[in-house]
Amino acid sequence: MNTDPATDPGADAAPATDPGTSADAGRDGRRALAGHLADTGVLAAAWRPAFETVPRHLFLPPVYWEFTDAGTVERDRAQDPAAWMAGAYRDTPAVTQWDDGDDTAGMRDFTSSLSMPTMVASMLRDLDVHDGHLVHEIGTGPGYNAALLAHRLGPDRVMSVEIDKTVADTARANLTTAGLPGVRVVTGDGADPTTGHEDGGGGRADRLIATCSSLVTDLPTGWLDLTRPGGLLVAPVTTLFGGGAIARLRTADHGNSATGHFTGPCDFMRMRQQRYQAPPVDAYLPGEWPGNATASVTDLDPETIGSSWLAQLAIGTRLPDLYYRRALYQNTVTWWFFDTAVTSWATVDSTPNADEYDVRQSGPRRLWDEIHTAFTTWQQAGSPGWQRFGLTLTRTGERTMWLDQPDNQWSPPPAPPTT
Ligand SMILES: C[S@@+](CC[C@H](N)C(=O)[O-])C[C@H]1O[C@@H](n2cnc3c(N)ncnc32)[C@H](O)[C@@H]1O
Repeated sequence: MNTDPATDPGADAAPATDPGTSADAGRDGRRALAGHLADTGVLAAAWRPAFETVPRHLFLPPVYWEFTDAGTVERDRAQDPAAWMAGAYRDTPAVTQWDDGDDTAGMRDFTSSLSMPTMVASMLRDLDVHDGHLVHEIGTGPGYNAALLAHRLGPDRVMSVEIDKTVADTARANLTTAGLPGVRVVTGDGADPTTGHEDGGGGRADRLIATCSSLVTDLPTGWLDLTRPGGLLVAPVTTLFGGGAIARLRTADHGNSATGHFTGPCDFMRMRQQRYQAPPVDAYLPGEWPGNATASVTDLDPETIGSSWLAQLAIGTRLPDLYYRRALYQNTVTWWFFDTAVTSWATVDSTPNADEYDVRQSGPRRLWDEIHTAFTTWQQAGSPGWQRFGLTLTRTGERTMWLDQPDNQWSPPPAPPTT
């Protein structure tokens, strides 16, 4: 995070009075942030007026949590209005809701936020909107992205679906405060193709943008019904194993499929109905580790995978039913790997400066061997980057990830041979 006051876009955004409700407050911070986004190349010229005009601070609650290099930092307007306002105009995400609004849950998971401005700008650039376009957003959050779209296209051209009623109500109020009450915010599940469709501004949208992520395997086919043939669908995708990318899919003329390349990495909160509740380790290993596991060694440090968001995506799309946990025991980091069918597990110890690493594998599947193979397959393909991957979604439910072109399938992998 930039903390240098000389170049920090948020630093000069301190308000004179009443920062929470004044649209004029934060003007300098807004301009500086837009300049920063333009300088880094993510902000298209056509979007600059919206970023310079729409007051991002009007979409923040009196207390929010800013993502910083040191973790999430609370910004309380009553305690420190200048810090609250400065955070609004830094290139950082802001958590606006924890644990689906359950104040007793102990702030475990962030469940709504204002996305990082760099990510907002790059996704809007990917969306390629033109005057007159109708845009359908999934995941309103506090409503800032919808406000930017409304500033560019007109409030009547934008509708947005938010699954959390309290968040949706707050977004409506925020949009009204920002002078954009005409944006239609629907409370519902954005995966549902009928949500808000009836009076959503003339049926299918020209552009669909999701700001919550979907597992590649569960990318909603209903989005093909919400987007007109020849339209664009911009959505973050991820896997249970990790990794994440923005998919930019063009819907085919017949409307039954959409295909396109990824545009870059991302890390969005998952669509609410796609959250995975992992079973306790006991469900895999009732007794003491290592139980009946077989022992071997590997030349691949699992930290190599853990430190590569891209490798995780490449592996997770080939092995969509696997996930991992990382645990520190004294000086050794042990990586645990599990399958969602709760049949198999593996551990790999990542000892600093080792040449080989201890492996234990249990169950009918050899999970580490499968992960090792998926990783080396990706390496042997030249460790392809984000933009070399792409995705095709069909109405019949196929979600095919491909490398370079749609006929070069990356996942799902071929079914194992039957014996
Ligand atoms: C990262 S926030 C949205 C950011 C926001 N668009 C902005 O302007 O910065 C993701 C939002 O998606 C919502 N969400 C999660 N699952 C959803 C679903 N199935 N349908 C609609 N909204 C969903 C969450 O409640 C959360 O508010």
